[in-house]
Amino acid sequence: MDWFLLVLSAFVLWIASLCIIYFPSKVQYFTTGDTLHKKAVLLVIAHPDDESMFFTPSLNHLTSRGHNVHILCLSTGNADRMGNIRKDELYKACAVLKVPLKQVEILDHPELQDGFGNVWNHTLIAKIVEDSIRTHGIDLVITFDSYGVSGHSNHRDVHFGIRKLLLDPQWSSFEAWQLDSTSILRKYSGPLDIWVSIFMAWCLPGTKQFCLLNEHPAKSFQAMAQHMSQWVWFRKLFVCFSSYTYVNTLLRIEL
Ligand SMILES: *[C@@H]1O[C@H](CO)[C@@H](O)[C@H](O)[C@H]1NC(C)=O
Repeated sequence: MDWFLLVLSAFVLWIASLCIIYFPSKVQYFTTGDTLHKKAVLLVIAHPDDESMFFTPSLNHLTSRGHNVHILCLSTGNADRMGNIRKDELYKACAVLKVPLKQVEILDHPELQDGFGNVWNHTLIAKIVEDSIRTHGIDLVITFDSYGVSGHSNHRDVHFGIRKLLLDPQWSSFEAWQLDSTSILRKYSGPLDIWVSIFMAWCLPGTKQFCLLNEHPAKSFQAMAQHMSQWVWFRKLFVCFSSYTYVNTLLRIEL
């Protein structure tokens, strides 16, 4: 009987958490400075599918409010020799996520090849991101934090590359945001993590932290399903149970 109550309450909480998404609260607006000004936002990721697996709440939030989103993917994800296929999959996912294809750039740089053991050059990343900011007139950058959600070294190097750019005095006040890597318990709690994320954003209000709820969680599935070569059972489960399908907490990168 006890387990039945436990499962039932977990189920009720799960549904209640999903309902929260449809009652937008004050905390979820990503209002940096002038809220009416449409911004050019650059999302920097390491591999095709990072955008769908981790950043969908942020992308949906930004595109639905008319911000102009660009994506810079630093590798083709060629660890299994499927780089060319995965490149196409990223374009398909971006079509679902309503990111204009001409604003999606996928690099295949010899020094930035997909692989856990491959150390990526932070100076090189800083230079590439700087060029992209200048070319597209970017107002703010979003990327991984120093843990990189899954702990993948390529994710972490992307973070440190951008941090390196901010260390340059002329970029020190540039607006850059990192996706908060949560504990394993929160990471796999699905929409239940919405409560924790909202609470945390409420504890630290203002301009340092934003909690973005995914207004269309189904889009995470649709976008991820475009990554056919990656769409295996355990990733389907991941997208279901991952809190990153439902909510993103963004923290301002401060040096
Ligand atoms: C890292 O990249 C920079 C810029 O391209 C280059 O000058 C430097 O030699 C590279 N460092 C290493 C260790 O490859």
